[in-house]
Amino acid sequence: MIRVRALEKSYQDLKVLKGVEFEVAKGSIFALLGSNGAGKTTVVRILSTLLRADAGSADVNGFDVAAQPARVRESISLTGQFAAVDEILTGRENLVLVARLRHLADPGKIADDLLDRFSLTEAGGRKVATYSGGMRRRLDIAMSLIGEPPVIFLDEPTTGLDPEARIEVWQAVRELAGRGTTVLLTTQYLDEAEQLADRIAILHEGRIIVNGTLTELKQLLPPAKVEYVEKQPTLEDVFLTLVGKDKR
Ligand SMILES: Nc1ncnc2c1ncn2[C@@H]1O[C@H](COP(=O)(O)OP(=O)(O)O)[C@@H](O)[C@H]1O
Ligand SMILES: [Mg+2]
Repeated sequence: MIRVRALEKSYQDLKVLKGVEFEVAKGSIFALLGSNGAGKTTVVRILSTLLRADAGSADVNGFDVAAQPARVRESISLTGQFAAVDEILTGRENLVLVARLRHLADPGKIADDLLDRFSLTEAGGRKVATYSGGMRRRLDIAMSLIGEPPVIFLDEPTTGLDPEARIEVWQAVRELAGRGTTVLLTTQYLDEAEQLADRIAILHEGRIIVNGTLTELKQLLPPAKVEYVEKQPTLEDVFLTLVGKDKR
């Protein structure tokens, strides 16, 4: 569904991408993992036609991002790090608005179905200003699905969310892929890639340095060695000792 070949991009003197290559299979979740500034957003912006590469090529849904940008845009949706929902409207109104803008039949039904899919039915009638971070991000993902694009880009979908909200967003992402949508997500969190992705690619110093399933990545390291480690007492140990319930 996505094919990236020898992609290069510089900002003035700063070479960010130095020959990035990867492929994403239809209906899978692919995690582009990298630290802050690695170039993840740059890759996503090129794939979503917002930015032109200096060299190399990329296809999305069979269309070349440089030669057929309109066809690519019809095939994708992009959810950035900062939720693009309207605070003053309710969750349902946000969804209906986008469905209307896309000239789809029965915007109300589309909105209700998406609210249901993302466990937002109860919150649907409330202004988004009252939503938690996780609810907002779920609504954002729901909005990006209107029109059923086959490919969705999620750029750091859980950055800035609390642990509970992250788990909610993870469930939403799994739900997407379960229905056949191809998901490319970027993350700087190892656990997020581990939890969600069918394949993980690590972007480092302008190149993909490894690309594989979690099992394949784990096999790159030698088997774990057992080492003796002196254990420091935990706060729990201290507490139990002080209150006289030490059972050691
Ligand atoms: N428009 C720009 N002009 C100059 N430098 C940029 C621009 N956009 C990003 N960069 C730089 O390129 C590098 C990669 O950025 P980015 O793709 O946003 O990384 P990531 O999303 O992995 O954090 C960073 O060093 C960033 O500061
Ligand atoms: Mg980024």
